[in-house]
Amino acid sequence: MKLLVINGPNLNLLGLREPDLYGKQDYKALCALVEDTAARLGMEVKLFQSNHEGSIVDEIQAAYGVFDAIVINPAAYTHTSVAILDALKAVSIPTVEVHLTDIRTREAFRQHSYVSPACIKTICGHGFDGYVMAMELLAEHCK
Ligand code: DQA
Repeated sequence: MKLLVINGPNLNLLGLREPDLYGKQDYKALCALVEDTAARLGMEVKLFQSNHEGSIVDEIQAAYGVFDAIVINPAAYTHTSVAILDALKAVSIPTVEVHLTDIRTREAFRQHSYVSPACIKTICGHGFDGYVMAMELLAEHCK
């Protein structure tokens, strides 16, 4: 099984960025966790991070016919991007949305996700573990 893990804007600054909210571990540590989890689950994984909406759309489009599943943390684009929603709907690849924090209990503007309707599940508020949970769910889903 081939999995694409997409992280949106500012997630490259994990560790530095509001550590009380997002934790003290950096993006490299997140990548290592995802790679270890992929190895344990027998998945092939590609990690992609971008601060640019169009690059994320391009990556989703390029996943068509190549990847079996997607894990996406669209970060701030969660709350603004119809383009990412449309790209996920277009390729129709089983996708799980992940957020480190619980967006449902944060500021009002973070409580709505444009991306959720294209996802089989949204996992939020579990920190890095949310990525592991998403990968386990997709491994089961794609069996
Ligand atoms: C986030 C939540 C978003 O509201 C925020 O813009 C992020 C990270 C999370 O993982 O909790 O950048 O997606």
